[in-house]
Amino acid sequence: MVLATAETTTTLDFGPAVALSCRECGTRYPLGPSFACIECFGPLEVAYTWTSPGDGPAATVTRRQIEAGPANIWRYRSLLPVPSDVLTKRNLAPGWTKLVKADNLARELGLRSLHVKDDSGNPTHSFKDRVVAIALEAARTFGFHTLSCSSTGNLAGAVTAAAARAGLDACVFIPADLEEAKIVMASVYGGRLVGIEGTYDDVNRFCSELIGDPLGEKWGFVNVNLRPFYGEGSKTLAFEIAEQLGWRIPDQIVIPIASGSQLTKVDKGFRELIKLGLVEDKPYKIFGAQAEGCSPVAAAFKAGHDIVRPVKPDTIAKSLAIGNPADGPYVLDIARRTGGAVEDVTDAEIVDAIRLLARTEGIFAETAGGVTVGVLRKLAENGVLDPDAETVVLNTGDGLKTLDAVSAHARPTAVIRPSLNAFRTAVADNS
Ligand SMILES: Cc1ncc(COP(=O)(O)O)c(C=O)c1O
Ligand SMILES: [Zn+2]
Repeated sequence: MVLATAETTTTLDFGPAVALSCRECGTRYPLGPSFACIECFGPLEVAYTWTSPGDGPAATVTRRQIEAGPANIWRYRSLLPVPSDVLTKRNLAPGWTKLVKADNLARELGLRSLHVKDDSGNPTHSFKDRVVAIALEAARTFGFHTLSCSSTGNLAGAVTAAAARAGLDACVFIPADLEEAKIVMASVYGGRLVGIEGTYDDVNRFCSELIGDPLGEKWGFVNVNLRPFYGEGSKTLAFEIAEQLGWRIPDQIVIPIASGSQLTKVDKGFRELIKLGLVEDKPYKIFGAQAEGCSPVAAAFKAGHDIVRPVKPDTIAKSLAIGNPADGPYVLDIARRTGGAVEDVTDAEIVDAIRLLARTEGIFAETAGGVTVGVLRKLAENGVLDPDAETVVLNTGDGLKTLDAVSAHARPTAVIRPSLNAFRTAVADNS
């Protein structure tokens, strides 16, 4: 485990970030490549000038300054732990993806106002480009030469692509049985791709060992020793959604859960916008989505537990197949504090939801998006969602990465000779 120590330095340029702080006991540490508190082993997160009085001048960022920025996550650079000159660096500049007004889907589900935040439009077609972009800047600042990660697939591709663009080496680790497209994406950008015989949780454990070994020296594991920085990338989803809604936080939002980092950081992003006076302070509900074949957080939520009991995943939603989610307890807190919930759906419901979103809105989601839209549908049908409230659902990945999930349902209507008669017989007469 990489524990925070006093030797790490704060003289590096991390923009408005001033420290790492323990989420459990609040102990502060200098900004460094560490992720656990030496006092209580709690996870560390980035603290900013505006987090507590005395940390420096309060941020004075305005909507107008942000709106004048580039059409990518760097428009929020004054709210992120990145160097002040980040715009001059070579990176994939992800973000500013579409917020699609989903009237057709809303009508089917009986909701008044629904948007899909479609992160399949990122450079490697998942939201992971956001988190990697921030972790990459930290890796460069700390002088790491190799970018690495444990991954359920999307993160591996995002890391190898980002490293390629930045000119760093890459070596990424995945469970060996992932979807073909994710394996291709993780290897095509160069670097090394290592499949491990085991689950994601085995891969993650292996990476933690590698960090402590001379073999892993000068390696930045984006979601392990750089995890506090990585997590901040997900806040940009919250920032974009609020800005794209006209500087308004939605009333309710449905977010997929693997490690739970994305969900906790979207909440952090909304709270920061309120604290900085960029949006009106109002209540919002956060709902978490899992696949039934890997739903430790949903199970804990439904049972009223505070702890999350690890499971062995068995679902087509491989990108969400983390049996021991690091941020699980924080997700429970947020769902309960905001009046949300954590729900799960079966593999069959995931496939149905992928097809529903494609049929109604022309958005082809990967299985993670199927989980999220499936949970949206279930919550709407069960009356858990307020049908009159402004609702946002996340699509975090592209359906082209998980074709197998829907290929049985997606065949040509007919294969015919090129003649009108053949068409009439096969299709037109039956329509
Ligand atoms: C497409 C997709 N959506 C959502 C998630 C969930 O991310 P988190 O680990 O932040 O909960 C993942 C994680 O790998 C993913 O690949
Ligand atoms: Zn602590």
